[in-house]
Amino acid sequence: MGEYEDILLAQDQHVLTITLHRPEARNALRNQLLRELAAALDAAAADESLRCVVIYGGEKVFAAGADLVEMSERDMIGVLEDPRPGYWARIAAFPKPLLAAVNGYALGGGCELVMHADIAIAGSNALFGQPEINLGIIPGAGGTQRLIRAVGKSLASKMVLSGEFIDARTALAAGLVSDVVEPELTLETAQRLARAIAARSPLALRQAKEALRQAFELPLAGGLEFERKAFVMLAGSEDRREGIDAFLEKRKPEFKGR
Ligand code: CAA
Repeated sequence: MGEYEDILLAQDQHVLTITLHRPEARNALRNQLLRELAAALDAAAADESLRCVVIYGGEKVFAAGADLVEMSERDMIGVLEDPRPGYWARIAAFPKPLLAAVNGYALGGGCELVMHADIAIAGSNALFGQPEINLGIIPGAGGTQRLIRAVGKSLASKMVLSGEFIDARTALAAGLVSDVVEPELTLETAQRLARAIAARSPLALRQAKEALRQAFELPLAGGLEFERKAFVMLAGSEDRREGIDAFLEKRKPEFKGR
């Protein structure tokens, strides 16, 4: 799966866990880390044995955002030519279910990374924020656009305009995360959910993720049409036959992604 320095990979059956690993810099997302993350997700997308991925930051911090040392070295042309948007686009295009397991700070690019996941599980110690305004800049990896869709106008505007953080309970109430658990259970909870997801049909998962994602892109009529086409397409799969047969025969289905 390649050699990485800023991330650690661990595969358990169909689930890959990617741990961000720059503890000395609170997992700040330097270019190298984002490049490695994009490469690991590209490899996971192509690997048939992997059906679901969990991104974790460790027990104390998810990620403190862009690396400010690196950012301070870049002028406008440097930012214009930055490869980061390309890395983010690859992370966003990852076609399999992506979970974030968040303990501690998820700030700036860290909060944006959480929003690239399909599902986020938070430890009760999690804090989410877009503090870029404190630095004289604004979010640059989708924070203004994805946060407003995730938590609504008023809370997103409060976070982006004031730089204030929200805690895990507020994030849960706003819909930014799906569950809040004790911090020592965050990874385990995300991995358990990932294993459950990985037992489903990979073909159906792919279509379901894409259809959910289109809800942010398309008007309702277009989204409904996308969903219907995906539903019709899945009627031709062996996995659908297997799923329905297994139900009627009162046994567990074995999905093969065919
Ligand atoms: N970039 C580079 N280094 C960082 C960093 C970052 N974003 N965040 C923390 N670090 C480094 C610190 O400089 C410090 O290094 P030294 O030990 O060498 O001094 C080390 O990590 C520990 O940091 P703190 O002492 O500050 O740790 P703390 O526990 O007291 O606070 C924190 C943690 C609240 C996350 C605080 O470090 C912080 O506020 N970090 C900056 C957060 C931020 O502004 N993020 C937004 C970045 S902009 C962005 O993300 C835009 C984008 O992607 C498009």
